[in-house]
Amino acid sequence: PHTEIKRICCIGAGYVGGPTCSVIALKCPHIIVTIVDLNPARIAAWNSEDFALPIYEPGLEDVVRQTRGRNLFFSTEVDKAVQEADLIFVSVNTPTKTSGVGAGYAADLNYVESATRHIAQVATSSKIVVEKSTVPCRTASSMRTILESNSRPGCHFDILSNPEFLAEGTAIADLYNPDRVLIGALDTPEGAAACAALSSVYANWVPKERILNVGLWSSELSKLAANALLAQRISSINALSAICETTGADVREVAHAVGLDSRIGSKFLRASVGFGGSCFQKDILNLVYLSESLHLPEVAKYWRSVVDMNEWQKLRFAKTVVDNLFGTITNKRIAVLGFAFKADTGDTRESPAITLVKSFVAERAKVAVYDPQVSHDQIWMDMQSACSTPKQELSKQLTLHTDAQSTFAGASAIVVVTEWAEFASPNFDWEGAFAAMTKPAFVFDGRGIVNGARLREIGFKVVTIGRGE
Ligand code: NAD
Ligand code: UGA
Repeated sequence: PHTEIKRICCIGAGYVGGPTCSVIALKCPHIIVTIVDLNPARIAAWNSEDFALPIYEPGLEDVVRQTRGRNLFFSTEVDKAVQEADLIFVSVNTPTKTSGVGAGYAADLNYVESATRHIAQVATSSKIVVEKSTVPCRTASSMRTILESNSRPGCHFDILSNPEFLAEGTAIADLYNPDRVLIGALDTPEGAAACAALSSVYANWVPKERILNVGLWSSELSKLAANALLAQRISSINALSAICETTGADVREVAHAVGLDSRIGSKFLRASVGFGGSCFQKDILNLVYLSESLHLPEVAKYWRSVVDMNEWQKLRFAKTVVDNLFGTITNKRIAVLGFAFKADTGDTRESPAITLVKSFVAERAKVAVYDPQVSHDQIWMDMQSACSTPKQELSKQLTLHTDAQSTFAGASAIVVVTEWAEFASPNFDWEGAFAAMTKPAFVFDGRGIVNGARLREIGFKVVTIGRGE
């Protein structure tokens, strides 16, 4: 028999903790879910009366409207929520270390460790502690040591690994209908009981055959492996995109042709300006670090090349822009469409747009940016930090816009960086754009989403990633 879960606490109200536990609250009306965070502004946004939630995710607001105040609560009172919970998700950030041993590769486990210590310190009864954050292999073992060495008498902790596979922009759909839910547990009776307890939460909406029980270390490694393999597909198609551009092959046709082979599959073969997002690069570098720590330099080198290819793709695209604009973009206006790392999110972490805008600024261009979701404050923050230049100085070259059309006046080129639906829409005013620009007017499509034939008819010179037209 396993503990019946009546109360859940989630530590970390971010891109993972927020949507994941909102969906649990929706699907399990009999469970009280409290999401806590140390950041009071973030919690205030989750609690805001007008539902101005801290993250943009299609469908999320609807879930929060249905559950908030019913069985879903957002709070900064970490201790209380921990004490009351039967099960605690640790869903804090695990960024790449910026200094010390493993800087630039290893995951910074400081947030996971302090959340774990905090649980041990304040818990007055036994708990199931679930690793939701993406962590290096064997982190659960460290968490267990910390919990066992600091717990009060009579408090027992079971640790599970339950990595999250949602993608931003489709988080709610992914959570409703996951390919699988992975739960890693120790091979002990207590481990099995904890695993059964968490499985029973998911079983409220996920078919049983999709709830997979594996060992703790397999679970931790599977998360890094899944991200590494997904990113590897993108780097592979991006490597092919470079060959396409010089041979006249079309990367869309190649991706379609190879993707029909059921052993390869069609997903994640969209050539792009490079992958972004908070996790792919971080998790691969984490795997590289792990491989090096295990004295497996060839394995480390293999995975490292996925990130190297991505860096090259971003810079290659930036160079394509300059080369086509007759070798210089100094004082030319470049309109950048999209700043988020992918469509349907306001997230800019590791967005390829940052690398591109930085390189255009370095070439002394005037850069005009529009994104339908990303706040201007966020773009200023990202670009100040990427260029190590204060806003006042940067604003001589960089302007931010609230609509696409206003970026085009006097522009030499439009660069499509994020695949927002509005840029691919037949209603997008390309004629208006063309009329406003200097000639020859270029469009550089980093996502392969614009209708090249129509744009050429209007008069544009069109350069698309992976197409050598
Ligand atoms: P995030 O930065 O959006 O959220 C983390 C939150 O944790 C922050 O709001 C921070 O204030 C809070 N926090 C940190 N330490 C805390 C503490 N001790 N007590 C209370 N709150 C604390 O990060 P995220 O994007 O949600 O990612 C979280 C984890 O999930 C990472 O390990 C990431 O790799 C993994 N992951 C992310 C995604 C994604 O799409 N973003 C998908 C799958 C897995
Ligand atoms: C990714 C994984 O897809 C999730 O399963 C995982 O949970 C998550 O990382 C994580 O661990 O954080 P996410 O980064 O949110 O999700 O979004 P993706 O759809 O994977 O896109 C990542 C990047 O790759 C984006 O910049 C996207 O534009 C790019 N991409 C994606 C391509 O360039 N081509 C493709 O075919 C697919």
